[in-house]
Parts: sequence; C-alpha cells; structure tokens
Amino acid sequence: GDARGRGRGRRRTSAPRRDGNGRRMEPTYWIPFDRSHTCGEIGVDQVGETVRLMGWVARVRNLGALRFVDLRDRYGHVQVLVDPSEGDLDAVSKVLRMEDVIAVEGRVRERPAEAARDDAPAGRVEVTASRIVVLNRSEVPPFTVTDDVRASEDLRLRYRYLDLRRRPMADRIVLRHRVVLAVRRWLDARGFVEIETPMLVRATPEGARDYLVPSRLHPGSFYALPQSPQLYKQILMVAGFDRYFQLARCMRDEDLRADRQPEHTQIDMEMSFVTERDVFELAEGLMREIWRVGRGIELETPFPVLSWEDAIDRFGTDKPDLRLGMELRTLDAAFEGTALRVVADALARGEHVRGVVVPGGAKWSRRELDELEALARRAGAAGLLRWRRRDGGLEGPGAKALGEGVAARVIEAAAMNDGDLLLAVAGPHRQASEVLGRVRSEAGRRLGLDADTGEFRFLWVNAFPLFERDPDTGRLAPCHHFFSMPFEGDVEYLESDPLRVRAHLYDLVCNGVELASGSIRIHNRALQERVMAVGGIAPEEARRRFGFLLEALEYGAPPHGGLAPGLDRIVAMLAGTPSIRDVIAFPKTQKAASLMDAAPSPVDAEQLAELHIRVVPPEGRAPGEGDDVTA
Ligand code: AMO
Repeated sequence: GDARGRGRGRRRTSAPRRDGNGRRMEPTYWIPFDRSHTCGEIGVDQVGETVRLMGWVARVRNLGALRFVDLRDRYGHVQVLVDPSEGDLDAVSKVLRMEDVIAVEGRVRERPAEAARDDAPAGRVEVTASRIVVLNRSEVPPFTVTDDVRASEDLRLRYRYLDLRRRPMADRIVLRHRVVLAVRRWLDARGFVEIETPMLVRATPEGARDYLVPSRLHPGSFYALPQSPQLYKQILMVAGFDRYFQLARCMRDEDLRADRQPEHTQIDMEMSFVTERDVFELAEGLMREIWRVGRGIELETPFPVLSWEDAIDRFGTDKPDLRLGMELRTLDAAFEGTALRVVADALARGEHVRGVVVPGGAKWSRRELDELEALARRAGAAGLLRWRRRDGGLEGPGAKALGEGVAARVIEAAAMNDGDLLLAVAGPHRQASEVLGRVRSEAGRRLGLDADTGEFRFLWVNAFPLFERDPDTGRLAPCHHFFSMPFEGDVEYLESDPLRVRAHLYDLVCNGVELASGSIRIHNRALQERVMAVGGIAPEEARRRFGFLLEALEYGAPPHGGLAPGLDRIVAMLAGTPSIRDVIAFPKTQKAASLMDAAPSPVDAEQLAELHIRVVPPEGRAPGEGDDVTA
C-alpha cells in the first residue's frame, strides 16, 4: 500500500505548471503534426532534413546559453537542442520534466566533433528544435527511467509501464515477440497446426494445485484453469491432426521461485506416429531456430542424451549444468580399509562414498566450507567431508585418520591436483549423489561458472522412472504425469515393483535449467488404466476424472508423443537474466500478486452470491476482509 499511497498523494498536490510569464502550460489533446521518424531512425543520413519526432523527455540539461532535451521512444534516444533566445521555445522547454510526452519539429545536424558519440545511431547528430508541443504531462516518476534502475522490484512492478519504458526491459519484451514469431513460422513450415484449447476446463490436477473458476449456471460446480493442454493435445492426436502446437498459457497454483510464475507460457507440441528420437530431432531443430533468431548463435545438434540414472550418478541431479564440469565420483575402492569411522561404517553398511573435486577450491575459507556443509545438511546429509590437496597430501578434518595409503589412493581416484578441494558424502548412492549435486551447483555458482558467457550446454535427460515416492505422503506419484509410456520391457513390473519401471519421458536441460519436458504417451486404454491404478487412482475414480480421455483412447488413438518447452525460461536464458519476471510484461510477485492492478482482490458480496459462493475467512480474519496484495 505504501508505494500506491505515495503515488496518489503526489497526484493531488501537484500544481499546474507555468511558464516564465506565469501562463499555464497545458498540454494539447491533439497531435499537432504527423510523426516523420522514430528516434531510432535518426542518424547521419537525416542531416539537413526537417524531422518531426514524438516521445518522452528522458532528461533536460541547461548548459548556459543552450538547453538540451533528451527525447526517448522505444526505438532510441535523440538529443534535441533548444535555443532559449527563441521566446516560445524557451517558454515550453523550460517547464519540461522527465517523462513528459512531447512532439518536436526540428532540423537534424551533425554534432560538433567533441560532442559526438558512437554508441547509438543518433549519437553523432542532434535536432535543433523549431517547435515543441507538450502532448501530455507526467508526474514525477517514482523512479528514474534509466537502463540500470535502482528501484526495488516491487516498485517497478507497481509502476510496470514506467519499468517497461526502460530500454533493457523493452528489448526483452521485443525479443520474446521475435522468438514467438520464429516459433510459429518454423512450426508452420513443418506442418504443425496451432489450435487453441479451452481455458475453462475440467479440474484434473496434474501435479500442482488448480486455479478454480466458479460456475454461475451450475451452482457448486467449478471449472479449472488449465495447468497445461495435455489432455486436449492428446485428444487432438486421436482426432487425426498429426502435428499440433500452441503458445499455451498454463496456470498453476504452486510455490513460486525465480523461474516459476502462477501463469506461464508453453510452446506446447504433440505429434502422432513418432518415437522419442523424432521428438528430439524436432525440438533440436526448433531450439536451433530460436537460438539463431534470439541470440545469433548456431547450436550444435544433436544434443547429448543422458539417462536419468546416469544424470544422477554423474551430476547428482536430473538438470545438470554441464558448464560446471566437476563430475561426481564413487570413491569406495580408494577408501577401502580406512580408519575414518563415518566412511568405514557407511562402507560396511553397503553404502558409498561419493565425491566431487572443486578445482582450486583448497583456498576456500573455513567459513565458506561451513556454509557448503550447512547446505549439505539441509539436503539431508549427516555432514560434508572436505579435504584439500596440498604438497601431495590431503589436509582437513579427519585427514590423519584416513589410514595408510588411503590419501594417495583418494587423490588418484579423484584425479585431484595440488590446490584442489574434495567434497565427499558417505551414504546411500542416490542420497549422497543428490546432496553432492546441490553442493556442486553451489560450488559452481561460487566459482562464477554459472554466469551467462554465451555458452549453452544442452542435453536430453531421458529414461526417467515412471513413478517416484512422494517424500511427504510416502505414496507413489507419477514422475511427470500419468500419460507417459512405460518401457516395453518394464511393463511387467508395473504392479510388483513400480519404482523400477522406466518411461519414455524426457527433459530438455540447458545450463542447469529444465527448458522442456515431454513424453511418448500411452495410447491404449487398458495400459493407461493400469498405470493410473498403480498411481493410486482406482478405475472408478479414473473414469470420473479422466473418462473423456480413456474413452477417446478406445476410438483409434494413434501412437503419439510430444513435449512442451517453457517459453518464459527460454527467453530469460536468451536474454541472460535469471528471473522469468524480466521477460513477462506483467508478471506476479513471489506471492502470486500483481502489484500494478492489485490482483487478487476481494469481490462484492453480490458477485459472490450470484456465483453461489460463501467465503470462510481464514482463522483470525473478518469475513470479507480480503488480502490487500499491495500491502
Ligand atoms: P511441465 O509441467 O514439465 O510439462 O512443463 C513444461 C515446461 O514448462 C515450463 N514451466 C514453467 N515455467 C514457468 N513457470 C512455471 N510455473 C512453469 N511450470 C513449467 C518449464 C517446463 O519444462 N504437459 C506437460 C508437457 C508434456 O508432457 O508435453 C507439461 O506441462 O520449462
């Protein structure tokens, strides 16, 4: 509420601006002349021409006998020179303030050599104004519209239209547009048909919580906003469309992070009669096109493929950042016979010692290592073993207890150089690996290896397990969703050993970010029902929730598969920004609020009554007292 309050206050107190003679400087409501150029079109080629520009006042500078107005539009900046000895011009330009909207007529001339700048097309020229008309006034903006803004993100979101005037923001939004266009053209050229699927759908939670929409005509019934067009795109395959895509908005009520928004956009795709390899090739071609258009880079394809099991084994995560190097190693043999208790006990239990070497990490401070250890503990490890290689030996806690020859064997097995740091965890293979996966990412971040250097390391991760155990409920849940095709050879274990069943399920990962995810689908009703039953959805419930899909599978469903790259994450990566909020015109905060229009908001009792809804406020809150999202 704070920022908003201030904005309102400013509006009320501002007095009409007056020129030097006390005349009110009111803006005109009409455009005084046609625009001849945008600011981005002005350069040495226009020298000598009279031009008419329109835009925003970025800055006014008074330099003795001259006044400079920096004019901005989406396309660029132009320096406008005002000679204050011309009465009318002086009067108008004197009262100009930042973000006022003006129209300028003037002649383009070359700047004096010492004032010329080469960093923009208009840097070598300026426009000497013959006429300036104020089209609209601006209040003093809550932050200065410059490339490197200092304002908090909340303030920027509250005044998003000002934030979007900033060049880096506008450039990213335009980049997004160019990517979207390229995607549509490229897929169209390959026979894909863009088909819109409904926004009001049946609630069939896919993993996240649904956003619900009450039905007025069916009291007590709700639509859901789609979490993805998954079921519809499969049904479009049954309908024979063969190749479908959609720039699809997906809504999920889930916990938010920098790379997650309550609504995001997927480049949703589905194809009939395809294998996993076909989907990979299609997506690789699309990524090549996107990176060519969006970043001017030729990606090398095919992308490497790593099974989920190998990804966990080598990197401790199913989204490895290949730029970091630092593969995990199993050091069991090297530690054999060690006197170090934690390790010896783990090995005796049949567990493993897994380690990762941080090149040059021996110089990390005790405090830095303690922080890494705290991270390892939060990830579920009992501790983090750490040894530096110095002067041919190992140093660090417990190094003395390692035992005869162990240090030398470890150094060799881990391929440590002098000055390297070994971080290790003893425990069950998967758990130790996943802990080290987190440690590895953090180490990479500290070494600055995760910065955008223009290197994009793509890979496919496939052969995911069909199910995983939900750590909270202990129940089996699909790794991705219920519709992925199990490996032919694993189907027989569906009921007896479901966790060992792998599926034709894949993620496209780049620099540690999951950019896309998809699968070959089940196109057979009986198998689909079996998979659902193993996942805890009894046949009757399956029929109730997914009956329309199950039925469609009975009328000649072709084998099919697809995937959905996340547009927001792709554009953020192209733009080199870590937050997808930077590539969404009107994003929401981490608390799923829109600060500009103050959504969500309480609604009138009347509106609720019409929808047959009564609100039960959370404990300690009065009825009708909503959450003020701007507070
Ligand atoms: P999935 O849920 O993995 O798959 O989503 C596909 C891709 O969409 C992006 N993504 C998100 N981006 C921003 N904010 C979010 N909250 C968010 N959630 C997902 C990611 C992700 O890889 N129907 C399946 C796809 C399929 O099987 O074809 C699906 O939705 O980049």
